[in-house]
Amino acid sequence: MNYYRNFSFDLQTRIEFGVEIVESLAEQVIGLDGKQVLLVSDPGLVAVGVVGRVTEILTAANLDVIVFTEVEPEPEARGVMAGAQLCKDEDRDLVVGLGGGSALDTAKTIALMAKNEGHIRDYAGLNVPSEPGLPVIAVPTTAGTGSECAVWSVISEKSVNIKYGIGGRNMTATVALCDPSLLLSLPARLTAGTGVDALAHALESYVNKATQPISEALSEKAMELIARSLRTAVYNGAEIQARSDMLIASTMAACAFAPTRLGLAHAMAMPLGAKAKIPHGDVISILLPEVMRFNMVANLDKFARIAQIFGADTRSLSRREAASAGVEAVAQLVSDIGAPNSLSAYGVAETDLEELAAESMESGNIVVNPRAVTASDLVEIMRRCL
Ligand SMILES: [Fe+2]
Repeated sequence: MNYYRNFSFDLQTRIEFGVEIVESLAEQVIGLDGKQVLLVSDPGLVAVGVVGRVTEILTAANLDVIVFTEVEPEPEARGVMAGAQLCKDEDRDLVVGLGGGSALDTAKTIALMAKNEGHIRDYAGLNVPSEPGLPVIAVPTTAGTGSECAVWSVISEKSVNIKYGIGGRNMTATVALCDPSLLLSLPARLTAGTGVDALAHALESYVNKATQPISEALSEKAMELIARSLRTAVYNGAEIQARSDMLIASTMAACAFAPTRLGLAHAMAMPLGAKAKIPHGDVISILLPEVMRFNMVANLDKFARIAQIFGADTRSLSRREAASAGVEAVAQLVSDIGAPNSLSAYGVAETDLEELAAESMESGNIVVNPRAVTASDLVEIMRRCL
């Protein structure tokens, strides 16, 4: 590929990585002049004691902490608005997000709305003008969304079946505090879905039309780490090496796709997730192999390179055979880790597909997809995933 297009790469989040680095959280808060912290997390992390441990780290340094746990699996706008109001009422000057993508997206959007008027949906889209929000420290406890480094947050309003992304400079965390020890007890099912989501971020960015050399390098490394360690992370979750690989990979993949967007799996995941209430990593797992089968012919070289990254010996293969080996290597991984593979298991029916395809076509991920696509192509891909 010749790089004749201009590109820009702007990594706005400082990444701090290390086993037990969560112990430095109070120093990080103080370093950002924070004193009055809103700690955003979910009830599950309260139950297993992680929120208590993190609260203690902050209060031991005499920081004032309010814990906010109105975080739902696909975060709701009303939780965001309630958290933002709490920030205003209680004079918060910094937000810590602790959890998976839902908690981190909630934390980032609360921080934005603490400094902006109106409703979070007024800021849906890319680079909708806004004032900078409160500083955010993102502490991921899953390896998947990469929300700690992503320029997007995704918010739902389930009562009206809508889901939207808010993207841009003011939607990034100030610091990503990435501690793989926080992932050690993540259940296999969640490790699998979130892991495939991270893979899809790296892969969809890598093969799409908007990719660029810095993103490609990040994607290749992320895919290499995932190919090496996702199975171990799922089946032997106490292995810190595998958890480290997956956390680095998900963070790198998020950095890769920030300037490039993604592809068809993510275009379809948004309306499918909203309508059928399928967790994001699960819907991505269902769609990714079929999306790759559709896209492969439009970028044989990149799919062949994916085969090599996944360890296939492609020397005796044609370009097309090598590309196909890349697709099958990913499909094999998704199958090996027991990720979901059927939309109908979530209640999606043939009669839903046209409407879902029409909604998917609105996504900004459509135009960058390596292969030109119509709504009927999307219907066919989803049909194969039923
Ligand atoms: Fe994703």
